[in-house]
Amino acid sequence: MGTEASPAQHDRQQGRLAGKRSLVTGGASGIGAEVARRFVSEGAEVMVGDLKGGDVVLDVRSAASVEAGVRAAAERLGGLTTLVCNAGRPVLGGMPDIGEDEWLDGIATNLTGVYLTAKAAWPYLAESGGSVLATASTLGLMAVGGQAGYCAAKAGVVMLTKCMALDGAELGIRANCVCPGMVETPMLEHIINEQPDPDHARRAAVEYHPLRRLGKPADIADAFVYLASDEASWVTGVALVVDGGFTTGKDVRF
Ligand SMILES: NC(=O)c1ccc[n+]([C@@H]2O[C@H](COP(=O)([O-])OP(=O)(O)OC[C@H]3O[C@@H](n4cnc5c(N)ncnc54)[C@H](O)[C@@H]3O)[C@@H](O)[C@H]2O)c1
Repeated sequence: MGTEASPAQHDRQQGRLAGKRSLVTGGASGIGAEVARRFVSEGAEVMVGDLKGGDVVLDVRSAASVEAGVRAAAERLGGLTTLVCNAGRPVLGGMPDIGEDEWLDGIATNLTGVYLTAKAAWPYLAESGGSVLATASTLGLMAVGGQAGYCAAKAGVVMLTKCMALDGAELGIRANCVCPGMVETPMLEHIINEQPDPDHARRAAVEYHPLRRLGKPADIADAFVYLASDEASWVTGVALVVDGGFTTGKDVRF
């Protein structure tokens, strides 16, 4: 057997994402920041797009802002192979109490933002035969009381991902999303600290997960690395659950 590296071994030496050119929205904090960091460590070139800074400032609720941000990122990267639609925010309130403004802005940020960003990036992804990824949620698969707007938006992200997989297939565009359980980020910290007894809420959050810990941004970033890589070249339309068992079922014993 010869000693020269095979193409796959060569890629691995370069990193699993060598040659990828990526834009990560919501990449200034939490899960998105870790995705950006992991992508770079795997050899990708990465631009962060975020309302609060990053390489390009963009607001995923605005078509004009997203189009300008995607164009700027693609120009600086010399194209785009991988879009990560991760920007999002909590939407608090159940039915019928959730206010109309909260509903509309929650849907705009968490669902319409994915549509607008993917739409703006589509020509670049078609050119590269690239992939679009989104951060959905376990709450897009399972209803949780008091979070009607968030659950509806994230369920929409799961279904939009599947539609993009079908519509993009003949262009060579793959589309997948990740559904995290509760992950230790500023967003979760904010939700927990809003509760009447934050310490109790934190313990309860851990208990909801059969593996008895909250997720770390790295747990989610690892899933994104896989889906963005050529290891997943035959994977499209998937909602990959990474949740410590949160959605597995109820542990009912008498
Ligand atoms: N943390 C969790 O437990 C959890 C669980 C499931 C899904 N998610 C999802 O993961 C994603 C990242 O959340 P996180 O926990 O890292 O939160 P985070 O608050 O730490 O980060 C979210 C980022 O999105 C940016 N952002 C918000 N609105 C934006 C807009 N309109 N345009 C551009 N950027 C915007 C924020 O500035 C921030 O940098 C979100 O889509 C969230 O819904 C989080």
